[in-house]
Amino acid sequence: METSVRSAIESVIDPDIGRSFGELGAVESVKIDGNSVEIYLELVPPLHYVGLAIDDACRDVVRSIMGDSVKTTVFVRPKAIPRIAQADVLPDVQTIIAVASGKGGVGKSTVAANIAAALAQKGASVGLLDADIYGPSAPMMFDLANETMRAEKLPDGSVIGYPNERYGVKIASIGFVMQRDQAAILRGPMLAGYFTTLVGQMQWGALDFLIFDLPPGTGDIQLTLTQRIPLTGAAIVTTPQEIAVSDVRRSVAMFRRVNVDVLGVIENMSWFSPPDMPEKKYPIFGEGGGRAVAAESGAPLLGEIPITLATREGGDEGLPVVLNPDEFRQAEIIRNITANLVRESRRAHAKRLGGQTVSITL
Ligand SMILES: Nc1ncnc2c1ncn2[C@@H]1O[C@H](COP(=O)(O)OP(=O)(O)O)[C@@H](O)[C@H]1O
Ligand SMILES: [Mg+2]
Repeated sequence: METSVRSAIESVIDPDIGRSFGELGAVESVKIDGNSVEIYLELVPPLHYVGLAIDDACRDVVRSIMGDSVKTTVFVRPKAIPRIAQADVLPDVQTIIAVASGKGGVGKSTVAANIAAALAQKGASVGLLDADIYGPSAPMMFDLANETMRAEKLPDGSVIGYPNERYGVKIASIGFVMQRDQAAILRGPMLAGYFTTLVGQMQWGALDFLIFDLPPGTGDIQLTLTQRIPLTGAAIVTTPQEIAVSDVRRSVAMFRRVNVDVLGVIENMSWFSPPDMPEKKYPIFGEGGGRAVAAESGAPLLGEIPITLATREGGDEGLPVVLNPDEFRQAEIIRNITANLVRESRRAHAKRLGGQTVSITL
């Protein structure tokens, strides 16, 4: 019986990756004791969104073989994902996603903050690293504008920093260590020092996700940050109009050059629906940009986020809109985008496990 249950479980298809558990080496063991079955799986992380579906699929398979009275328990643990570069940086963080855009003002930080909040709401341990020197906004978006970074000097002279926490998201921001508008006068080594602290010395603890709000653009700073951190991949934020799209192209090209997967494209400010006419959609910033960038970069469009008053207010008042119980529609859109991004992260991890080698060439 164990053999037939095991081979049936091995033929279950992972819904995100499209390959069978057998091919993925996911089935560790199957134990049957009378009427109770235990299935031990090792699956490609992150598992926060797919866990229940896989649990159900396994139960169905066992029931079809052993009948409705069987009691099935599925134990799942995450597979270890090989690091492609910088394995010593952020060793306790499982999935690291850079949120990037070609230019400022497209809502990159808003999207990063809301994705981080959505992941925390789903029960994941989440960090948000706001490295946008030109406009650090995580402190305001999480109602932490008056906070500074708690830091400690170790006996060997090195400095470690601690993230602040709000809504279950650990937050490190260049805004906690730098005065407003100071970035404009900071260049070179000083700036590099801030980044070293932010990236290398933060005490995040073990995290399921680190969301990394990159500064806009594709200059040296972005390139260095992209290379210094072992990214799972990048999520590209664009607005719908052509002018934003041409900047975004450069961003996609930068990630290509350093062999970072583009996980997907998020179109923000896609339309406006007047609150009193929620079925009407006004495409204020044009149409089609997200789809165009997705097609060009060969990555999926993860979703389209409309312009809403509550989204802007949430940013200014320190409550990401995805956590606002009165904003169900917008929250649902952001939760879907987050789920899609996590699915693409699993695919990127599966690709790496598949033995494909990825190397940094510069
Ligand atoms: N979908 C949206 N609806 C309404 N306002 C938005 C939306 N996305 C972003 N904003 C607002 O636009 C401004 C710029 O967003 P921000 O996230 O700071 O952009 P970026 O990080 O790309 O510079 C902020 O005031 C923010 O609240
Ligand atoms: Mg920003």
